[in-house]
Amino acid sequence: MGGPVSYASLALTLGTGAGILWYFNHERERKLAEIRSKQESVGVAAIGGPFDLLDQDGKRFTHEDLRGNYSLLYFGFTHCPDICPDELEKLATAIDGVEKQTGHKVLPVFITVDPERDSVPKVKAYVKQFHPRLIGLTGPLEKVKAAAKAYRVYYTKTNDDPNDYLVDHSIIMYLLNPDGQFMSFYGKNYTATELAENISGVITKQKV
Ligand SMILES: *[C@@H]1O[C@H](CO)[C@@H](O)[C@H](O)[C@H]1NC(C)=O
Ligand SMILES: *[C@@H]1O[C@H](CO)[C@@H](O)[C@H](O)[C@H]1NC(C)=O
Ligand SMILES: *[C@@H]1O[C@H](CO)[C@@H](O)[C@H](O)[C@H]1NC(C)=O
Repeated sequence: MGGPVSYASLALTLGTGAGILWYFNHERERKLAEIRSKQESVGVAAIGGPFDLLDQDGKRFTHEDLRGNYSLLYFGFTHCPDICPDELEKLATAIDGVEKQTGHKVLPVFITVDPERDSVPKVKAYVKQFHPRLIGLTGPLEKVKAAAKAYRVYYTKTNDDPNDYLVDHSIIMYLLNPDGQFMSFYGKNYTATELAENISGVITKQKV
């Protein structure tokens, strides 16, 4: 297996935009695979933890505020071109499905990994587009970093232009139980229906 450097030079050798794009995609897949295998090996207990952020109204919102309901967390950013809107629509459809199937209102939560651009009002305007109950969280850089770290979310800017960059990030949803404990995670490969089915299954199993 080659390291990032040799892939970088390969991409440069190819000398095309496609080569560079390939490199980023390749790196993303590699990192995600790494995260996935880490998540599988560390097991359930090590994912999640305390966080201390601001909601879309600028009010403090911490892990304690998740208590009382199941919640489904997704990390993304508002400038994200396709993937985040797709994932958030999926998340919204899935939690509506879970409500129909189980009667449980899962709390949907979006957490930005781009707090420098995603101010409270930006997040507020963004979350409104997806679900009326979607909570949007942002905060100071260090606190966002700590939240992402707790959930083992990997993210990195794709370039250094402060006004024009994307954020490459893990595309994973996290289901937490009403005690705020991690139950299950879902990759991009789940459809809304599969998500709803799995979450409903997890909730139903918990009740017995
Ligand atoms: C949990 O959901 C119920 C029903 O939607 C809601 O009334 C309650 O406020 C929620 N609790 C929390 C902690 O969000
Ligand atoms: C998605 O991918 C993961 C890991 O590769 C796998 O364990 C899971 O069963 C897949 N789920 C669906 C619904 O395809
Ligand atoms: C649903 O999640 C559980 C873990 O909570 C897993 O064991 C199961 O394979 C998942 N089912 C599907 C259809 O992805």
